[in-house]
Amino acid sequence: MSDDADRSGFVIAVDGPAASGKGTIALRLGAEFGLPVLDTGLLYRCVGVLMQKAGENLEDHDAAAAAAILLTADQLDDPALRTRAAGEAASRVAVHPSVRDALLEFQRTFAGQEGGAVLDGRDIGTVIAPQAQAKLFVTAEPGVRAQRRWSQLKLQGERLTLDDVVADIRRRDERDGARDVAPMRRAPDAVLLDTSEMTIEQAADAARRIVEAARARWLSSR
Ligand code: CDP
Repeated sequence: MSDDADRSGFVIAVDGPAASGKGTIALRLGAEFGLPVLDTGLLYRCVGVLMQKAGENLEDHDAAAAAAILLTADQLDDPALRTRAAGEAASRVAVHPSVRDALLEFQRTFAGQEGGAVLDGRDIGTVIAPQAQAKLFVTAEPGVRAQRRWSQLKLQGERLTLDDVVADIRRRDERDGARDVAPMRRAPDAVLLDTSEMTIEQAADAARRIVEAARARWLSSR
């Protein structure tokens, strides 16, 4: 066993498109394997919301990078980050390479903590933690994702139609997949988990089994 292997923790990367179930799965995995969880989407949401509050233009990459540099972990609990508008703003600031650079160290430090971590997002398995021992790419049919997100936003008190959410999801999938830097991609070594036909319990159970197998391989290789 090398010193590096000895020190490195077990990292779980959970990537996937909007409303695929990745956030819930990441939280369940964190509880199951006793690891801290970072929802990296909140970082981008926070940058977008801070800029909107300050009246900044979301296309202004210098202002967006400045907001990203100043961001602190205690700002991530704000319920305002969970709104539909925050999701849209997040995906618009997430295209700026300077914003992604500014958020890189925070995410890598989280991934590198002793004992390991779970991170969910779009580029965890490809850019943030390519060394992760367990990688999942969680997806679902766009119609299923729209239905799930609609229910969630209505519970939060937002007034919108299913068609609005279908359009949001389509726009975000396109923008997140087409951007030049760190586009949403399944890492070659990520296990694809399509949750279209699954309940959240079934999806969480499938994810746990995938991660258990990866953990057993990791332990036996140390
Ligand atoms: O919850 P949902 O999947 O709708 O979104 P999220 O994970 O909170 O991410 C919001 C937006 O942030 C995404 O549409 C991406 O544009 C961006 N994002 C990213 O670029 N990279 C990440 N690692 C996480 C989120």
